[in-house]
Amino acid sequence: MISGAGEGKGVGVADSYTIIDNRTGKSVEVPIENGGISSRALRELDPNIFIYDPAFLQTAACRSSITFLDGDNGILRYRGYPIQDLAEQSSYLEVAYLIVHGELPSRAEFEKWTHDITFHTYVHENVRKRFMDGFHHDAHPMGILVATVGALSTFYPEAKNIADPEVRMRQVVRLIAKMPTLAAFAHRFSIGLPFVFPDNSLDFASNFLSMMWKIAEPRFESDPVLARALDQLFILHADHEQNCSTTAMRVVGSAHADPFSSTAAACAALYGPLHGGANEAVVRMLTEIGSLENIEPFVAAVKEGKARLMGFGHRVYKSYDPRARIIKATAERVFEVTGRNPLLDIALKLEEIALADEYFISRRLYPNVDFYSGLIYQAMGFPVDMFPVLFAIPRTAGWVAHWLELLGDPEQKISRPRQIYVGPPERPYVPIRDRN
Ligand code: CMC
Repeated sequence: MISGAGEGKGVGVADSYTIIDNRTGKSVEVPIENGGISSRALRELDPNIFIYDPAFLQTAACRSSITFLDGDNGILRYRGYPIQDLAEQSSYLEVAYLIVHGELPSRAEFEKWTHDITFHTYVHENVRKRFMDGFHHDAHPMGILVATVGALSTFYPEAKNIADPEVRMRQVVRLIAKMPTLAAFAHRFSIGLPFVFPDNSLDFASNFLSMMWKIAEPRFESDPVLARALDQLFILHADHEQNCSTTAMRVVGSAHADPFSSTAAACAALYGPLHGGANEAVVRMLTEIGSLENIEPFVAAVKEGKARLMGFGHRVYKSYDPRARIIKATAERVFEVTGRNPLLDIALKLEEIALADEYFISRRLYPNVDFYSGLIYQAMGFPVDMFPVLFAIPRTAGWVAHWLELLGDPEQKISRPRQIYVGPPERPYVPIRDRN
């Protein structure tokens, strides 16, 4: 039995839970600290009783000072700064510095950071010539990304030395810098175009657009509205606390794997349609719906459990995702340049119908970041296969920040959850000749 003390009481009353083992009458008082109670108390009562929490709905696996998320009130902050302020006034590279280092950079720090990231964008020729060329001609670019980012560990064997802070930071810079290069190469390969090398005179987003789209022109000039929109999308995707891919990064990192291998694991998690693949799934869903009159039957199918409304719902946000609000405004600016994405009308109507429907209201399902981001990417010319890759580029900043935080946290050990065994009890082995 668990009862809360201090709930609803005045200031000064110690907040705690008292946990009573009704089998023995033994009890333990656990302080509520930073909104959590330590599982150590349960171990004191009985080390063989575990908290059963599939998918970690109620489990905090670490203390973190990177991202604050209040899902009920739609609040998201990186290192204390509201996401709206960062999206409007900052740049992705500055936000990446903030997330990794904990503070906004001084001018000199930012110049050095920008220089370091810019000059680590190249990848070893063997990555391009031997490794990438080995993929099947129509390989999914996210599959290529997962494999190539993992392969980077073989090009930088020093990365295994995770105890050295300088070595660690060098890999952090390499990862943030090389992701756009690998991402663009993956795209160019999958459509049979020659690779375009990084242009160190361009900013982060424009350089990526150049590697994606440049054909024969001496210098690729990206539309400033589109480059800024992409940079803003990168800011919005830079971190999101203990999401599935960040958890993968932390779990693999907790075994002291090198950061390239850990990032490959994070990328693999992001590949899944319930996580980073969701915006790809949104565009496919909207394309399948096809016209306004098909929306009602689609929503009915969702309510019957025959389909899922992709881009809706979130494990943490139980109100409008603040990133979705910003993205909706970005979409307007992008469409002024690219022309309106015809799927937008279907998306707007679908959102309107869903937000007024009891099924979605009662389950507190609102549009998440992916509902509109795919439409922007599509309008900018990115194929849907590239959507999760576009997510991975900026999320790398979050992954490496969590990896650094994990390694510096004396409370962390190798991740190793327990289980509730529900299989057969001990039974004798029967040789195959004696089995029916
Ligand atoms: N469409 C229809 N029903 C839904 C949806 C949806 N998109 N999302 C949740 N539900 C229902 C679900 O069936 C369940 O209903 P019931 O109580 O009757 O069984 C209820 O709402 C609670 O859902 P849940 O599956 O327990 O929620 P979860 O926290 O496990 O899942 C989610 C979160 C994001 C995986 C889920 O909402 C989903 O699959 N959404 C669509 C995919 C998507 O857009 N993913 C992107 C997430 S945002 C990017 C990121 O941060 O990774």
